[in-house]
Amino acid sequence: MFDDTQRNGAEALLEAQKIAFGAVVFQSARLLRDWGVFKLLEDNKNGFSVEIISEKLGLTLYAAQILCESGFSMGALKLEGDIYTLTKIGYFLLNDEMTKVNMDFNHDVNYQGLFFLDEALKSQKPSGLHQTFSKEETIYPILSKLPPKAKKSWFGFDHFYSDAAFVKLVDIMSKRGIKKLLEPGGNTGKWSIALTTASPSTTVTILDHQGQIDVAMQNADLKGVGDRVNGKAINLLDHTIDFPKDFDGVWMSQFLDCFAPKDIIALLKRSKEALNKDGRVYIVEPFWDRQTHEIGSYCLINTSPYFSALANGTSKMYRASEMSKFVDEAGLEVEEEINGLGFGHTLMICKAKN
Ligand SMILES: C[S@@+](CC[C@H](N)C(=O)[O-])C[C@H]1O[C@@H](n2cnc3c(N)ncnc32)[C@H](O)[C@@H]1O
Repeated sequence: MFDDTQRNGAEALLEAQKIAFGAVVFQSARLLRDWGVFKLLEDNKNGFSVEIISEKLGLTLYAAQILCESGFSMGALKLEGDIYTLTKIGYFLLNDEMTKVNMDFNHDVNYQGLFFLDEALKSQKPSGLHQTFSKEETIYPILSKLPPKAKKSWFGFDHFYSDAAFVKLVDIMSKRGIKKLLEPGGNTGKWSIALTTASPSTTVTILDHQGQIDVAMQNADLKGVGDRVNGKAINLLDHTIDFPKDFDGVWMSQFLDCFAPKDIIALLKRSKEALNKDGRVYIVEPFWDRQTHEIGSYCLINTSPYFSALANGTSKMYRASEMSKFVDEAGLEVEEEINGLGFGHTLMICKAKN
């Protein structure tokens, strides 16, 4: 993974420039996508000169030149003579859903706040959040109040990854005969609605901030499962508040990565206390050491600075080996691990240690 040994000096120096100009290339790529240059060239395989591109898209010649030349340098456009055509990289920037949600998330949520990453890493506070969207301790209480584009891109990013994993997970979980499931961080109710729809004898109780609970309850009613999805507003960082008791399972999907290790251990302990005798804790996470391709690890590792600068200043995307240690410290043990769900999620099924 991320092997640099095959590169010669010049190649390595070019890679270093790609990083040094990363922010510039990112913005050019985004505009080539959003202002229609990629689409125009996808629809016209023989390509166009920059003059024709500017004319067809109503851009100034100067704007079209700036963007197309940057697109050429990043490998998204090919330039032969005076004619630009779309490359495979350009195709993915335009059409690949994962690339789109990552780019929108990074522009609409992270871009401005990441300028304050240094301050965030020193203070362990989300300094980027404080400089851009809110003075709250974390991003979570204000998720539903983010500016429209940031809100759409935050939820688009979150749901893109969890929705893909949920398909197989609903199948796995609906066979486990769970009557009562507790779901800390249930967000907009996607999981609770999917599971209760597939499994008519299951009831899910969501714990989350009030804004998310309101949306989740509304969604559950709309989908006809409102009588089996309950919600309770709570600040989950207050570890003096016990979870409600006697559950067959505690389900935490893309949730524990929102917390620092000490909070994860406390949340796992509270989860353990919420279980009945045969209950299990279910952790769903995309761990970066469980990815089958470096694309997955690259995306996950580089999601962590969002947690530092924007989300909370203390958490990150973890490795499975780190999570197993937290599980152990909370008095639980991993009974089973199922990998390769969706785009690379893992389900860790944990039980109380004897
Ligand atoms: C990344 S989302 C996970 C959403 C969902 N479980 C999924 O798989 O897509 C994390 C959720 O945890 C909630 N959350 C984070 N910190 C919280 C806190 N201190 N108290 C209550 N809810 C919190 C957020 O509001 C959000 O809904």
